[in-house]
Amino acid sequence: MAATMVLQSYYINVVIILMVALTSCFKGTVAQRAFFVFGDSLVDNGNNNYLATTARADAPPYGIDYPTRRPTGRFSNGYNIPDFISQALGAEPTLPYLSPELNGEALLVGANFASAGIGILNDTGIQFINIIRIFRQLEYFQQYQQRVSGLIGPEQTQSLVNGALVLITLGGNDFVNNYYLVPFSARSRQYNLPDYVRYIISEYKKILRRLYDLGARRVIVTGTGPIGCVPAELAQRGTNGGCSVELQRAAALFNPQLIQIIQQLNNEIGSNVFMGANTRQMALDFVNNPQAYGFVTSQIACCGQGPYNGLGLCTPLSNLCPNRDEYAFWDAFHPSEKANSLIVQQILSGTTDYMYPMNLSTVLALDSKNT
Ligand SMILES: *[C@@H]1O[C@H](CO)[C@@H](O)[C@H](O)[C@H]1NC(C)=O
Ligand SMILES: *[C@@H]1O[C@H](CO)[C@@H](O)[C@H](O)[C@H]1NC(C)=O
Repeated sequence: MAATMVLQSYYINVVIILMVALTSCFKGTVAQRAFFVFGDSLVDNGNNNYLATTARADAPPYGIDYPTRRPTGRFSNGYNIPDFISQALGAEPTLPYLSPELNGEALLVGANFASAGIGILNDTGIQFINIIRIFRQLEYFQQYQQRVSGLIGPEQTQSLVNGALVLITLGGNDFVNNYYLVPFSARSRQYNLPDYVRYIISEYKKILRRLYDLGARRVIVTGTGPIGCVPAELAQRGTNGGCSVELQRAAALFNPQLIQIIQQLNNEIGSNVFMGANTRQMALDFVNNPQAYGFVTSQIACCGQGPYNGLGLCTPLSNLCPNRDEYAFWDAFHPSEKANSLIVQQILSGTTDYMYPMNLSTVLALDSKNT
């Protein structure tokens, strides 16, 4: 009898110790900052692998420099921009929201909702058919919060979301895969370029406002890169290696107006929720002076075919450069892993020319003081 009681109390102690260990383990994970990612192929960690779409990066040589050396769905030879931000947070890379591995405690790290091919507008990337458009990504974010609520309760979920870092990257496809997709596209007949930019910026503002309403409190918003200077455009529209004037004009109109809506939103909210990343300038630095960053070229893609390796897709049959770190562009549209790391370096510690109103290191330092 006495022996049973001792044994029982031993078991109860073990159970209590286990429970304490489990709770502190969950608390430990909640205390770490979650990271949420929205947008297009520049930040997709593999959602499109789960979709019936042609916008995918699931065949070699994609992922050739990733730790597994296998394609992951990232449009990079290795890590992409969200991966380097995760590293700066001391966190695991965000799992694609559609990944079956995104369950239980893994949910507390955050999630990646991005989908290659999408834009601000619903009619951007229609040729890719089955992709997760931005309004759907935001619905998934709501669904995510319900799932996490079931795990740690609504209050903890709220603080996880409010305390999280968010990255959103949109806009490039609204030019490349909409307005300029074909000559005389529907949108280009409807709007001249400045009016089109005003229209998509006003739609972007609604999306950012919705993100705030869903609980986001620290959001990095990237501008479009130098979309006229990517190998695809050099091959199709450039003149003797010069960038496409039209697409550079589009980026030059879009980015300052994006900073304006970020200013407006922060003023309306009364807090610096949104931070603009001048990805155009970050990328122009190494496009204009590749050697200064250790690149042999910023014009020729590492993987591809045709002039500048800029035509068609990067496939197992494409030309492939031996040293990916020497190329600013991995494929016809996307930066190499090395270029992605340089971009995130500027997001972290760039001056106000690169990060408005402040860089990520400053934000992380501020927020750690407040908790
Ligand atoms: C995109 O589609 C969603 C769902 O149908 C709709 O709520 C939203 O207003 C649309 N966005 C634009 C810019 O038309
Ligand atoms: C950005 O970050 C760096 C490194 O943390 C810091 O020293 C610098 O002052 C910051 N720059 C601006 C303009 O906030």
